[in-house]
Amino acid sequence: MDKPTPGRFITLEGIEGAGKSSQVEPLASCLREQGLEVVTTREPGGSPIAERLRTLLLDPDNAGMSETAELLLMFAARAEHLEKKICPALAAGRWVICDRFTDATYAYQGGGRGVDPARIAVLEDLVQGGLRPDLTLVFDLPPALGLERARSRAGRTDRFESETQRFFEAVRAVYLERARARPQRYRLLDATAPMDEVTRRIRDEALAFIERTRARP
Ligand code: TMP
Repeated sequence: MDKPTPGRFITLEGIEGAGKSSQVEPLASCLREQGLEVVTTREPGGSPIAERLRTLLLDPDNAGMSETAELLLMFAARAEHLEKKICPALAAGRWVICDRFTDATYAYQGGGRGVDPARIAVLEDLVQGGLRPDLTLVFDLPPALGLERARSRAGRTDRFESETQRFFEAVRAVYLERARARPQRYRLLDATAPMDEVTRRIRDEALAFIERTRARP
C-alpha cells in the first residue's frame, strides 16, 4: 500500500493559445487514478468574488484600466481564491491544479506591462505568505502561433488577447526565465507538439512528481 500523500499545489502557465486549459482535466484524471483527491481551478477567478473580478479584468471595455489597478485586482482575486478555495483544499489533503497563478503576474504585469518584479514580490508575500506552487508546468510556444490559435476561437477577444505580439514576446521571456532559474519546481513543455503528446509528457511529469512526493512527503 502506498503511503498517503499530503495536498500539493500544481499550476499550469503559458501564453494564450498554449493549450494549457485543455490539459487540466487529463492531468486531474491522472492524479485521481493514483488515488488522489483533486480540485481544479483557475486564475483570475476560482471563487465567486474572484470570478467577478475576472470579468472586470478581461472585459475589453476596460481597455484603459490603470496598470496598478490591474495588478492589485489580480492579487485581490488571488486573496479571495486562496482563502475560499485553495488553502482549504490543501489543508484537507487535496491536490489543487490551478490554470495560472502568480507566475502569470510576473509574466503579464511584470514582463508585459513593465511592472517592477520587486513590487510584485511584495504583494506575493503579503497575499500568499510562504505559499508557492509545488510544481509549475510552463507551456511554451511562439506568440505568433499562440495568438493565431487564441483568436481563431469563437467569442469576443478579451482585454489581454488584444495585446500586441511584442507584449506576448515579453510575457514568454519571463516565463522562460523563471522556468530556467528554478528547474526543480518548473517543467518546460513544448506546446507546439500535438495535444496527445503534450498530455503524455504531463502524465510522465505528474507520475514522477507523485513519486518524489511519496519518497519525501
Ligand atoms: P485565460 O483564462 O485565458 O488564461 O485568461 C486569463 C488572462 O489573465 C490571461 O490573458 C492572462 C491574464 N493574467 C494576468 O495578466 N495576470 C495574472 O496574474 C493572471 C492569473 C492572469
